[in-house]
Amino acid sequence: MKIAIMGCGTVGTGVYEIIKNTPEMLLKGAHGEEIGVKYILDIKSFDDPAKEALRITDLNLILNDPEVGVVVESMGGLKPAFSFCMQCLNAGKSVVTSNKLLVAEKGEELFAAAKEHNAAFRFGAAVCGGVPVIRTMFYGLAANEITGFAGILNGTSNFILTKMIREKMSNAAALELAQKNGYAEKDPTDDIEGFDAARKTAILASIVSGRHIYPNEVHTEGITAISSEDVEYVSGVNAKIKLLGRGEKQPGGQIYVCVSPAVIGADDMISSVEGVYNALKVYGSNIGQIMLYGPGAGKDATASAVVADVIDCVRVPGFDTAYCWENAVENAVLPYEAYETSLYVRGYANDKKRAVAAIRERFDDVCFLTRANAPENELAFITDKRPERELRAALEELDGFAAANVIRKI
Ligand code: HSE
Repeated sequence: MKIAIMGCGTVGTGVYEIIKNTPEMLLKGAHGEEIGVKYILDIKSFDDPAKEALRITDLNLILNDPEVGVVVESMGGLKPAFSFCMQCLNAGKSVVTSNKLLVAEKGEELFAAAKEHNAAFRFGAAVCGGVPVIRTMFYGLAANEITGFAGILNGTSNFILTKMIREKMSNAAALELAQKNGYAEKDPTDDIEGFDAARKTAILASIVSGRHIYPNEVHTEGITAISSEDVEYVSGVNAKIKLLGRGEKQPGGQIYVCVSPAVIGADDMISSVEGVYNALKVYGSNIGQIMLYGPGAGKDATASAVVADVIDCVRVPGFDTAYCWENAVENAVLPYEAYETSLYVRGYANDKKRAVAAIRERFDDVCFLTRANAPENELAFITDKRPERELRAALEELDGFAAANVIRKI
């Protein structure tokens, strides 16, 4: 079967190279069907003459070519990726994408078109890059009710937090290093403000709830407020701060979805995930819990997941009712403040003795934290577990104490 690649930047080039360089491996995976790249749709020309020979700029060549069965979308963004993917699905072509924004924002429409035209629509590379989390949730855990997940879904922010924990770097210096190493985007907002993780969390939450959950339904906080002081305080109780994307089915049928920094005990295996690596814990009714770990970005890792999806499309063509979710419904998401949690709180009080007494009065089993050389007026503590709304209200009411940072503790 012939494939076309739309957008040949880092990921597209990785896909092209795997298909070109390992044809026997693909042949075996696709049950003897040869897989070859026929077109590369890109407005930019390539230095590599072999790639340039395949380059086209007119989508119609792909749409009207019956030899092309699978189209890889690795353009990124929504425009024109969404329209191009819809046209491919409407023409009966299977579509494989690595584009998390596209899936998170337009999954409903893309599934509908795929279903109508009996085409496959796959997006294994959209979450955790090369780590096969999506196929594991759809297929590998098919005998489970998936009840929730918790994941380190953004490598850049995990790199920054790792440097803050391991090398006592400041948040700003660690970000600068991430940019220097080419991990963070030039504009790192999506990475450090949690928006990238929120798109991935929305996709995972859609799989768990069986209904489309949009990124704007995911309560999202990034890592910009995390300071060296916070890192130091929690390390005193053998814990670490990680940016987690979480989803948890609720008894009433809603789902809790949240991207935020979280204080995690060192005995939780996800706390040992360091640097740019990603990891996802999935909770299932029969399996208990599993954790998948590996490279969440990069040319070869991401292309590995894309090509695996291409092989699936060649081997089992057509729409797969096991690899999709239903349209969104209203009130699918639990208001995040209704979810029970503990909070780590750091702040300042001029009259520390009075503030400690007030904190003890408002919170049960409060645990005060210490760090070396803390200023006289600094206080940090961990609250009891209650709906977040109640904890925040109690914090507001604390007389003579001003919170500087609040992080959920799990
Ligand atoms: N910027 C993303 C990250 C790339 O740092 O994880 C992969 O989606």
